[in-house]
Amino acid sequence: MWTSSAPLSNPIEDNYVKKDAVFIREFERTDHVEVRRIFCEGIMERVPHTAYRGILHQTQTQFLFALLTITCFVVTKSFALTCCVPFILMAVRYYYSSKVIRNYLDWALNADLADIEEYYMKPTGSCFWVAVLEGQVVGMVAAQGREDDNTVELRRMSVDSRFRGKGIAKVLGRRVLEFAMLNNYAAVVLGTTAVKMAAHKLYESLGFRRTSGCEDYTLRGMSRSPLERLFFQIRYQHYRLQLREE
Ligand SMILES: CC(C)(COP(=O)(O)OP(=O)(O)OC[C@H]1O[C@@H](n2cnc3c(N)ncnc32)[C@H](O)[C@@H]1OP(=O)(O)O)[C@@H](O)C(=O)NCCC(=O)NCCS
Repeated sequence: MWTSSAPLSNPIEDNYVKKDAVFIREFERTDHVEVRRIFCEGIMERVPHTAYRGILHQTQTQFLFALLTITCFVVTKSFALTCCVPFILMAVRYYYSSKVIRNYLDWALNADLADIEEYYMKPTGSCFWVAVLEGQVVGMVAAQGREDDNTVELRRMSVDSRFRGKGIAKVLGRRVLEFAMLNNYAAVVLGTTAVKMAAHKLYESLGFRRTSGCEDYTLRGMSRSPLERLFFQIRYQHYRLQLREE
């Protein structure tokens, strides 16, 4: 189904669009709108996952919500009202997930994704690639070199939802690994707040190992108000793939 352009391959070959094949090429200015669309879609689908699935990993929040539900019954003695409490609490979680994730999205679109050429294409040690299928951009990934610890950070991995499950993210990930090896970096690292298994399985299938995690991460766009802290928590996990000994 797909092919990956070889590292340091001929740029003319890189721009050749083979029918019915996905290939990876470097970002071009005209990809800007599609890249932002795919990124927004990938981020916004996290709202329900973070609000609903996320609670499965948060025992303190589960305990607190159960306590609030029981307290409602003790105070009101109303079975009907008590049944509503979990739904109300989950609706508030959804509201805060949506608020924080939208703030994060606004920040990202105005940070590195505002000018991909300037941020990723000009500095040495960084790059941004898109996956193209029949002339259409269907996925993206970035690599950002970090000279202080000689690692490359894999960032902004996202695939258009209509083209998932076809191995596109895996080819994008391999492109980053090739880039890191060619540039003599010692390891590729990444951090993710993804709740869905897809992202974690992807990184594990590429050979990454989970190194550490933070259960109560402060995402860009969070205000850390007491209500937000009560209704929004997000887990951040670090992954690393060692390429060579330092
Ligand atoms: C995560 C994401 C990039 C995967 O893209 P994709 O093109 O569908 O992934 P691939 O088809 O290349 O699959 C790669 C691996 O991931 C795993 N995987 C993919 N989708 C999965 C799913 N829904 N459930 C479980 N595992 C899944 C597979 O195990 C596969 O490995 P295998 O080939 O060894 O079986 C895509 O779901 C996405 O864009 N999500 C939204 C944005 C996001 O969360 N990005 C990650 C940011 S850290």
